[in-house]
Amino acid sequence: MGRVAGKKAFITGGAQGLGACFARMLADEGAKVYITDINGDGAAATAAAINDKHPGAAWASGHDVTKRDEWKTALEAASDAMGGVDTLINNAGIGTFGSIETATDEDWRRTQEIDVDSIFIGTQLAMPYLKKAPSASIVNISSVAGMIADGNMIAYNTAKAAVWMMTKSIALHCARSGYDIRCNSVHPVFTRTPIIDPLIALGGGGEEGEKRLVQQIPWQRLAEPEDVGYCVLYLASDESRYITASEFKIDGGITAQ
Ligand SMILES: NC(=O)c1ccc[n+]([C@@H]2O[C@H](COP(=O)([O-])OP(=O)(O)OC[C@H]3O[C@@H](n4cnc5c(N)ncnc54)[C@H](O)[C@@H]3O)[C@@H](O)[C@H]2O)c1
Repeated sequence: MGRVAGKKAFITGGAQGLGACFARMLADEGAKVYITDINGDGAAATAAAINDKHPGAAWASGHDVTKRDEWKTALEAASDAMGGVDTLINNAGIGTFGSIETATDEDWRRTQEIDVDSIFIGTQLAMPYLKKAPSASIVNISSVAGMIADGNMIAYNTAKAAVWMMTKSIALHCARSGYDIRCNSVHPVFTRTPIIDPLIALGGGGEEGEKRLVQQIPWQRLAEPEDVGYCVLYLASDESRYITASEFKIDGGITAQ
C-alpha cells in the first residue's frame, strides 16, 4: 500500500516545476491525481507521463486559477473522474520583482490575483467536495518569501505572507466546524524549477548565478523539487492527521538567520 493510496488529489500549476513533481510523487504512492494549469498542454503531458507508469491514475485540464468559473468546471471534472476530491494542492503561482518605488499596479494586482485570490476562490469552491470526503487535506504552497522580505519583491513577499495567514484561517474554520479537513502551508527556499531562472540570471546566469543564489542558504545548495515533494506527500497522507494550521519550512536554514 502506498502512503496516499486511494487519495484523490487536485493539483494546480502541474505543467512543470513543483506541481508536476508533487503529482508524480503522489501517484507513485498510490493517489489519483487531477492536474491543472493555465498551460493545458503541459498539464496533459504531466498526466500522460504518470499514466505511462500508473495507468488510469492521472487526468489533466487547462485551468486559469484566477477564474471562478474555470475552478467550478475543473473541480466538477476532477470529482467525476476520481470519484471525489479529498486533497487540494494550491500550488500555481508566479514570482514578480519590484520595490515599493518600482512595482507597477499591474505587477501588484497580477501577483495577488494569481498567488492569493486564486487560493481563496479555489478553496471556497472545493469545500463541498472536501466536506464529503472521510478526511481531507489542503496544502497551500507559500514560500520563505512570505516569512523573510526582500526589498525588491514587495508584491511576492506580501502575497506569500497572505497565503501563510489564509491557511491558518481556513484551518481554524474547519477545525471549529468539526470538519475533518486539515490545512497547512509549505514554505520552500529557492528550488530548482523554471521560476528561479530570473534570479539566476540576476546573479550573472549559469553556474555563477546559481552559486550567488545559494550563498544565501546555510545548507549551501538549491532545494530540489523532491525535497519539497516529501513534505507535501506527508501533508497529503494520513500520517499528518493531527497537523493543521501549521507552516512547514523547506529552507536549508535560511529563515533561522
Ligand atoms: N521554485 C522555487 O524556488 C519556489 C520557492 C518558493 C515557493 N515557490 C512556489 O511554488 C509554486 C510552484 O512554483 P514552481 O517553482 O513550480 O514554478 P514554475 O514557474 O515552474 O511553475 C508554476 C506553474 O504555475 C502555472 N501558472 C501560472 N499562472 C497560472 C494561472 N493563472 N493559472 C494556472 N496555472 C498558472 C504555470 O503555468 C506553471 O506551470 C509557486 O506558488 C511558487 O511561488 C517556488
